[in-house]
Amino acid sequence: MLVFIWLTVSLSTNKGALGWGEQFCQHLGYCVNFENITAEAGLCAVIPCSFTSRFEPKYIIWYKCEYHKEICRVSDTVFNSDKRSSNVQSGFKGRVSLLEPDVTQKNCSIIVNDLRVSDSGYYQLRVEGEGEKDKFTFTVAKLLLSVTDLNQKAELKIPPLTDGQQVTLTCTAPGFCSGSPPIFTWMWRRKAENSSHIPGNITASTTENLTAVAQSHSSTLTFKPSVENHNTDISCKVSFIGGKTTEETATLNVNFNPMNHCDSGYGVLPWVVAGVSLGVNVLCMIQILVLW
Ligand SMILES: *[C@@H]1O[C@H](CO)[C@@H](O)[C@H](O)[C@H]1NC(C)=O
Ligand SMILES: *[C@@H]1O[C@H](CO)[C@@H](O)[C@H](O)[C@H]1NC(C)=O
Ligand SMILES: *[C@@H]1O[C@H](CO)[C@@H](O)[C@H](O)[C@H]1NC(C)=O
Ligand SMILES: *[C@@H]1O[C@H](CO)[C@@H](O)[C@H](O)[C@H]1NC(C)=O
Ligand SMILES: *[C@@H]1O[C@H](CO)[C@@H](O)[C@H](O)[C@H]1NC(C)=O
Repeated sequence: MLVFIWLTVSLSTNKGALGWGEQFCQHLGYCVNFENITAEAGLCAVIPCSFTSRFEPKYIIWYKCEYHKEICRVSDTVFNSDKRSSNVQSGFKGRVSLLEPDVTQKNCSIIVNDLRVSDSGYYQLRVEGEGEKDKFTFTVAKLLLSVTDLNQKAELKIPPLTDGQQVTLTCTAPGFCSGSPPIFTWMWRRKAENSSHIPGNITASTTENLTAVAQSHSSTLTFKPSVENHNTDISCKVSFIGGKTTEETATLNVNFNPMNHCDSGYGVLPWVVAGVSLGVNVLCMIQILVLW
């Protein structure tokens, strides 16, 4: 019983009231909950955040400035939910949005899209209400966003391939980011030869909305594989805005279907000559098996 109480108490003090992140309280009634975040360039960062205030918030503002500065300046603004504000740094315009559009929920979570390594740094929260005095900057803590190089890979889905049967390959970009859709490039790599010609139909990019701020980006390649494609490499390159790319390569394994090579022309013959046709097919198959 004692252990149970101790556990409950220590959990509720280590974690914020909401059970995640860390809580920093500045004055009575003014606390912020967030945690440091690591994300990859080209993708997005989701920063969970909540706060308490003694006035009803109307606008949420995020600054980015050096760790040692107690209060960031207006020119350090990277986001302002007041769309009329003209102080947002041009490099951040349109890349940051609130996860919860209703500011009165005191939910300061944001998503930063099209991440750049230079987005790394310390972020400070400010809230403003209706009244003249209803303004508060949380100087008690800044959250650290660390943007690393792009490491996640694209995902290449290849169904079983049979000679002459149309298939669709799918390439899905890493991350579920609602930022700029990436550009997909499909490439053939014959062994020891480079050819970029793909004999098939490619969808440039398809975007699927998962939630209001999460999207999945993918591209498909539809083609009829032939035995010549067996053992060739195919790759899908995903290029994000800002120049980050990731590539995935797979070797095609095309199942050989002898009927595609022998049956043509005989299928429409009347049944009287079916016997002849069958004989030809059997001969053809034997020939192919010998060649194979
Ligand atoms: C974030 O990282 C900084 C620097 O490493 C550290 O001082 C701070 O306590 C961390 N904040 C949280 C919420 O973990
Ligand atoms: C903030 O809002 C987002 C989106 O509605 C939600 O997923 C998240 O759980 C909320 N966070 C808190 C602390 O309420
Ligand atoms: C194949 O690519 C290599 C390196 O990119 C290049 O040097 C070579 O000329 C290319 N070969 C053909 C046939 O395009
Ligand atoms: C590509 O699409 C066009 C039009 O939909 C179709 O005529 C053509 O056969 C397709 N090519 C392949 C290789 O699937
Ligand atoms: C996805 O969401 C965007 C904006 O939120 C909207 O413009 C678009 O039509 C949606 N696409 C689909 C397929 O629902």
